[in-house]
Amino acid sequence: MTTPAHPLTGAELRTLRNEAARVLFTNWTGTSTVPSATLYPHQWSWDSAFIAIGLRHLSPRRAQLELETLLGAQWHDGRVPHIVFNPSVPLDSYFPSPDFWRSSTAGAEAGAPRGVETSGIVQPPVHALAARLVHEADPDASRRRNFLRRIYPKLTAWHAYLMENRDIGRHGLVSVIHPWEPGMDNSPCWDGPLSRVEPAPASSFRRADLVHSDAADRPTDLDYGRYVRLAATYRNNGYRDAGTPHPFVVEDPGFNALLIASEHALAAIAETLGEDPRPHRARAEKLTTALVNRLWSPQDELFLCYDVRAGGLIDAKSVTGLLPLLVPGLPDDIAKALQRTAAGEHFGLGSTTALVPSYDLRGQAYDPARYWRGPAWFNINWVVERGLRQYGALDSADTLTRAVLASSAASGFAEYVDPRTGQARGTTSFSWTAAVVLDLLGRTMEEDR
Ligand code: SER
Repeated sequence: MTTPAHPLTGAELRTLRNEAARVLFTNWTGTSTVPSATLYPHQWSWDSAFIAIGLRHLSPRRAQLELETLLGAQWHDGRVPHIVFNPSVPLDSYFPSPDFWRSSTAGAEAGAPRGVETSGIVQPPVHALAARLVHEADPDASRRRNFLRRIYPKLTAWHAYLMENRDIGRHGLVSVIHPWEPGMDNSPCWDGPLSRVEPAPASSFRRADLVHSDAADRPTDLDYGRYVRLAATYRNNGYRDAGTPHPFVVEDPGFNALLIASEHALAAIAETLGEDPRPHRARAEKLTTALVNRLWSPQDELFLCYDVRAGGLIDAKSVTGLLPLLVPGLPDDIAKALQRTAAGEHFGLGSTTALVPSYDLRGQAYDPARYWRGPAWFNINWVVERGLRQYGALDSADTLTRAVLASSAASGFAEYVDPRTGQARGTTSFSWTAAVVLDLLGRTMEEDR
């Protein structure tokens, strides 16, 4: 049984805020924020969205720039790459480096920009949600800079890319074609679909992540071989969605839920700009219907991933299946069932765990240390907190807020933590951990005044 975190005192909250701010200021490069100065020394797509959500409490101007820098590397086909490389960082600091992706040449026909090197895959579309929250932090400053007006067409093109090019299963949902795209790289959900991918030989690449992180906390070499094979196949086919024989195609509920929440945010942005919000709402509703029809499992009381190549739901309980709590307007019985599942034996929220783990505590593949196979992640807990609050579970949301604040403080803003013990895993001084803390503190400190 986990002990509920006590509310931090006013002084402790202020210290936490200062420490979180220090993490973001240290990881700021001048135009964007690195997720980690050691492990991830470039700009990452969904990291930047969460970072902007926190940064808006320190500097709305900087939060705008974070998103604008990322979208400055958007491809002409609308895709927002999952990494934007900083040319001044040495090639061997991170693998796969720009000379692996070769976006400006291999991706030229697909629409990669010329002046910047990026990866060719994507990450969850949290950006419109972030843009709306950044705007709301200081609407006057946002209007003065024309922030929404400039960013709205880019966000619209980003969503259009996903909906037009990535409905590979033809179910009205977006598919991911690489385990890095849903952001949960080595989730046990991918074990089945990945087992059909011939790994690239270990001698054909050199990992940089193990220099900065314990091997027990990271994906295995075998997984890396498969990640490399999938990315190289996509690259060798010019990053064309229609022309690549994607062996890994999965409909992920978390990815689609974040897209739906962001499509609702686009509707709100459109309204602010005097544009028509109805197409965004219609798309959000259509996606929500498809999500419920395709991925809801009543017997598991959880959304599951769908393996498009094998043609069936994947029998594995991941936290990605709880993320649709962020989707407005879910049928009442589903919203209630998701709350039961979060608090039940598989995720233990509020009983055996203070933060929701990334994978089923009772699953055979559960590992409390290894990246997305069990550890609790702070951005994911921010999403779950918001979802619980949206569906009226205010006590659970408050308890989770306190747990996120206490655990981040105790772990040195860890990348992820053991969900039962809170022990820090991966790296520390992690940007999105600091960012979601700042966002939750923004509310807590306001209430305190
Ligand atoms: N998360 C992956 C990494 O570890 C890819 O973005 O590098």
